[in-house]
Amino acid sequence: MKKAYRASLLRFDASGKPVFDEDGLLVVAPDATGRQRVLDAGSHADVAARHPGAHTTHLPGRILAPGFVDMHIHYPQTDIIGSPAPGLLPWLENYTFPAESKFADPAHSNEVAQFFLDELLRNGVTTSLTFATSHVASVDALFEGAQRRGMRLITGKVLQDRHSPDGVRDETEQSLVDTEALIRKWHKVDRLGYAITPRFAPASTDAQMRGAGELAAKYADTWIQSHVAENRDEVSWVRELYPKARSYLDVYAGFGLMRERAVYAHCIYLDEADRALLRETKTAAAVSPTSNLFLGSGFFDFGSADRVGYPYGLASDVGGGTSFSPFHTMMAAYYVGREGQTKAGLSIAPSELWWRHTGGAARALGLDGVIGNLQPGCEADFLVLNPAVTPLLARKTKQANSLEEMLFAMIVLGDDRLVERAVISQAG
Ligand code: GUN
Ligand code: ZN
Repeated sequence: MKKAYRASLLRFDASGKPVFDEDGLLVVAPDATGRQRVLDAGSHADVAARHPGAHTTHLPGRILAPGFVDMHIHYPQTDIIGSPAPGLLPWLENYTFPAESKFADPAHSNEVAQFFLDELLRNGVTTSLTFATSHVASVDALFEGAQRRGMRLITGKVLQDRHSPDGVRDETEQSLVDTEALIRKWHKVDRLGYAITPRFAPASTDAQMRGAGELAAKYADTWIQSHVAENRDEVSWVRELYPKARSYLDVYAGFGLMRERAVYAHCIYLDEADRALLRETKTAAAVSPTSNLFLGSGFFDFGSADRVGYPYGLASDVGGGTSFSPFHTMMAAYYVGREGQTKAGLSIAPSELWWRHTGGAARALGLDGVIGNLQPGCEADFLVLNPAVTPLLARKTKQANSLEEMLFAMIVLGDDRLVERAVISQAG
């Protein structure tokens, strides 16, 4: 049955430009499989005339917007947000690996997975590409939780068979057997997707990396996720481990781990050949500004990414990242765009920041037209935003003279309170 929602409506056109209807109408209806999709969207005057009699929910003063897409986050790091360290490598050793070792226990995995998924939704994130840990139980727990909520979610078992302590280090052969079993068990079940997940080049033997590449070729519509060029010490370490590789990114290319649906977090210390490689292979970067600022990793070069035109989108990278909130991530991206002097003038436009965390992120994941937008055909994952939820937000958004000013007020002042509701597309 058709359902309609009347409120202000934010969408994006095919080039990522915002389309805003002050008095809008969103009509959703089940497709042939029963999945709720956007049937029509636009101004109330136009859309209502095409759907006489549709049951309409009025949401005065609210904005309907696409659910946010987080391109890189670690659910097992929920409990180590805000753990300070002089840099990435000591942070991994002192906080990350001890926290992740607890996910051998399915009960712990399940408890954290439920909290994490609820926290994503409270913050308006309806899809994420998520690291689990090296334990199979951690993957099962997150998939089961997302499946129960009807969410589109992508995750995978972390591969790390060297330079990792007891408790998180896996065994080469078994890790690949487990990965293939998990792909067969979960990939494309309901709205779930599998990501082949080598943690980062220093933590996998050549045999494990080769095996990951072989699985990525065999299961061509799975995702691949890893980290690259995040931190100067990490980059030096990779240079020692792979003296023959042209660059850190090239190590992944050599193992067949760059292709559409491959996503690398950070991508800070890249050169021009690396950027060209990303573009040619249609591999995406997950830009994680709160993490890069918190761990002192560096500044993503937005200007060069735009000039070369490789795919990228925004990500929280919790727990290196400091917030689940896409508003905080967009704000940090704005600071970085200016701080790095990679964008002339005013850093990144508010509507572009928003696009990079919704439709642009979906496109970088190979999910254009599926999620991250509210155009007809998209799955109906959307947010009900209340731009008057705090006194200051109410005051600022009321005074906005343009869409950009209104979006900026929400980016600067917004957090989970702004998200009144996240509506997940239900199956029939
Ligand atoms: N590189 C390898 N593992 C990690 C991780 O868990 N977080 C971040 N930020 N970088 C990594
Ligand atoms: Zn990460």
